[in-house]
Amino acid sequence: MTIAYAQWADTYELFEGVTARETWRLGIAAELAKLTDGPATVLDLGAGTGVGARFLCESLPELDVTSLDRSGEMLDRGKVPENRQIVADMADFRVEQGYDFVVSGFDALNYLSLPDLASCLSCVADALRPGGYLVFDYSTRKVLTSDWAALEYENEKDGFRLHRRHHYEKAFDRSRTVLTLRRGDETLWRETHIQYVMDPFTLEEIARGHGLETVSVRNIDSDVYSPAHTTHVYVLRKV
Ligand SMILES: C[S@@+](CC[C@H](N)C(=O)[O-])C[C@H]1O[C@@H](n2cnc3c(N)ncnc32)[C@H](O)[C@@H]1O
Repeated sequence: MTIAYAQWADTYELFEGVTARETWRLGIAAELAKLTDGPATVLDLGAGTGVGARFLCESLPELDVTSLDRSGEMLDRGKVPENRQIVADMADFRVEQGYDFVVSGFDALNYLSLPDLASCLSCVADALRPGGYLVFDYSTRKVLTSDWAALEYENEKDGFRLHRRHHYEKAFDRSRTVLTLRRGDETLWRETHIQYVMDPFTLEEIARGHGLETVSVRNIDSDVYSPAHTTHVYVLRKV
């Protein structure tokens, strides 16, 4: 089975580029703007085509961003420079240097099962320098279990039709999305994406066990926190 995004890489930004950029602007970039005042190193997990790296480098040019993704297709398609690419699993990676920031945008961490997210938090703690921050946006339980409980829709761009079928699998407490790309009568590919959600308290508790203290959790579009929002922005600090 091909991994998710290997086929979508070519048209990912056509369909998601604008929304992904806006998510970075409202979430991670806004937090980093408050936390940085000079050059800093950033590791982006589940970086995909590097939408986040590009947005951060435009808005905060002193940041030096390295992009990690398990899909080499996504990194290559985004022309992420080779010396700023790491092809690896974000649930099991090791890096040499102590980064100032680890970030993850546009719900990339929702691709990790609960044990894998716990493992990722351990890797993040090792990758950060003391005092460094983990900043990420994360889709909430409401999205997976309610908004996407049983939802189908299609978008058309440049002659391509991307059909999405979301389904919440209660028995496994996870969301399954089947994406199908068509042009005319031809089906170009089909991919299945599985996403999970960890509740904020469990996430905080596991992170604390790895020396990552929660600084704030907020809704993506305001400074307040409401459990039923679609997307939360987390800021954690390595003690
Ligand atoms: C929703 S996309 C987000 C891409 C990018 N962060 C953005 O803002 O456009 C999720 C990304 O996570 C990557 N991904 C999913 N599971 C992964 C894993 N276990 N390790 C590394 N990358 C993973 C996918 O390949 C994909 O590029």
